[in-house]
Amino acid sequence: MPARGKGREGKGARSGGCAAVVMAGLPCALVLLLSAGSAGAVWPQPQHLSAGSEGGCRLSAARFRFAHADRSAVAPGCEVLDLAFQRYWKLLFRATRRDAGNSHTQDSPCTVLSVNVTKPGCDGFPSLDSPENYGLTVSDQLMLLTAETVWGALRGLETFSQLVWRSDDGTFFVNKTDVVDFPRFPHRGLLLDTSRHYLPLKAILETLDAMAYNKFNVFHWHIVDDPSFPYESVVFPDLSRKGAYNPFTHVYTASDVRTVIDHARLRGIRVVPEFDTPGHTHSWGPGAPGLLTPCYLGPKPSGSYGPVNPILNTTYRFMSKFFAEVSAVFPDFYVHLGGDEVDFTCWRSNPEIKKFMQEMGFGQDYSKLESFYIQRLLDIVSSFGKGYMVWQEVFDNAVKVKPDTIIHVWKENGGHYPNEIASVTKAGYRALLSAPWYLNYISYGQDWVGIYRVEPLEFKGTPEQKDLVIGGEACMWGEYVDVTNLSPRLWPRAGAVAERLWSNKTVRNVQDAYARLADFRCTLLRRGIRAEPLFTGYCENEYGGV
Ligand SMILES: *[C@@H]1O[C@H](CO)[C@@H](O)[C@H](O)[C@H]1NC(C)=O
Ligand SMILES: *[C@@H]1O[C@H](CO)[C@@H](O)[C@H](O)[C@H]1NC(C)=O
Ligand SMILES: *[C@@H]1O[C@H](CO)[C@@H](O)[C@H](O)[C@H]1NC(C)=O
Ligand SMILES: *[C@@H]1O[C@H](CO)[C@@H](O)[C@H](O)[C@H]1NC(C)=O
Repeated sequence: MPARGKGREGKGARSGGCAAVVMAGLPCALVLLLSAGSAGAVWPQPQHLSAGSEGGCRLSAARFRFAHADRSAVAPGCEVLDLAFQRYWKLLFRATRRDAGNSHTQDSPCTVLSVNVTKPGCDGFPSLDSPENYGLTVSDQLMLLTAETVWGALRGLETFSQLVWRSDDGTFFVNKTDVVDFPRFPHRGLLLDTSRHYLPLKAILETLDAMAYNKFNVFHWHIVDDPSFPYESVVFPDLSRKGAYNPFTHVYTASDVRTVIDHARLRGIRVVPEFDTPGHTHSWGPGAPGLLTPCYLGPKPSGSYGPVNPILNTTYRFMSKFFAEVSAVFPDFYVHLGGDEVDFTCWRSNPEIKKFMQEMGFGQDYSKLESFYIQRLLDIVSSFGKGYMVWQEVFDNAVKVKPDTIIHVWKENGGHYPNEIASVTKAGYRALLSAPWYLNYISYGQDWVGIYRVEPLEFKGTPEQKDLVIGGEACMWGEYVDVTNLSPRLWPRAGAVAERLWSNKTVRNVQDAYARLADFRCTLLRRGIRAEPLFTGYCENEYGGV
């Protein structure tokens, strides 16, 4: 029993039905009712959407255009919007010849989508505080998108593009609709790991495109780690020369990094780079002699290296220079400093470090040594006017951090991660959730459902504590992922995270989500994203064309 696809944007999802839902462990009867209603559906679900069912307004590819509204605070010449107008026109009508048949007159109400931005400014970068709210009205009289900022306007353009549908004879329509929308959480991120496998620039840019379709707004770039160091540093060029898989082909040049940051900005996406220390730093070693701790086997150096050596002044001089560069290259206020999974074995083996531990009165508690390092690193990074995010161990080890630090909760801990969010927020820190959203883990069947059902604020805490949860991130670690399988593993599964972080808490109906997500996945295919299927079915426009 297929769900009825409506072919918005010229595609339709005909997937789902009873078997799909039985697999997701849901009663079947419900689905048959709900899965029919996906036309006019938007992913992620807007906060308020009233869709008029009486007829669509016809859009003509030949005449339709986006325009700045009268008295908008933003005028033509605003790159963010002007380029978005071009992108969305192409997404809507790409395959259509401009002179495709239509019987429209110039003054049809569905000729122009007017975009009214109420706050000036369009050449800056989005930030954690940027408003993304917008309102969208499609009526007999006009089509108007109103937003406080250009970033909100981008979200509204995405929604508009999803509301457009195509009838069987190829005509484009948009129904009378009123949308008032805003995100539930301000930080909706996606992590890519470009160390375990190098991801070509093109794959990163395509991921940013798909993120914008899902209203994600933070690209967390886990750019280096143990296996490779692809970031080309200006101050320390040897890091990638000696630490990249291939220093000519498997690196991100300064120009690549600028391209990523700009591509992201134009889509209202922040780029938060992560340079994880003191652990996860093997690849730093060859290009930065003396930075890593020499491990010992009995009385002699074993020839292998452990975490960053926290007892040397040279280490901090290195970090100062390195993070001065990072702070200048990446415009976002936040830098992710890692701090996770520090293995103490090597530190324990090293006699100099043992001596330092004694002098400092740390006893056998190597987490105190880790804290000593992190503390100094945080001071360095603050001195460049930056804020920081860290993995939860930094908090667990009671490192003294600035009050505006964001603690990134990643340990699933047998489903007990809500306790960690409770502790972090009880201590007054802001929390970011990733524990249940490691999308690199896969299983047979519809694992998006578990991802979707997560409720970030379901932990014991006061309303003030709940306010400290700023959002979450879907993580795609790279052990088993490179450009061949990145997109299908990400999409549409990451969409489940996107909706959880954008939509109202009450939007949790899995049957309804299934119909919309299956349909949205067809939209992704039509836009050239290799999104994997949720279950049996087909799209009007399959990937690569049928
Ligand atoms: C949009 O209008 C069409 C044509 O009148 C109708 O079939 C469809 O159900 C409408 N969509 C929504 C979401 O109301
Ligand atoms: C756009 O918003 C401004 C207020 O910021 C308002 O004065 C103006 O009338 C609006 N334009 C349209 C076309 O709604
Ligand atoms: C490291 O710096 C501290 C303070 O800046 C100084 O007291 C100490 O002697 C230095 N250690 C070495 C080995 O230079
Ligand atoms: C979410 O939905 C509930 C129930 O419809 C409503 O009471 C609440 O105000 C909504 N939240 C927001 C932020 O709109």
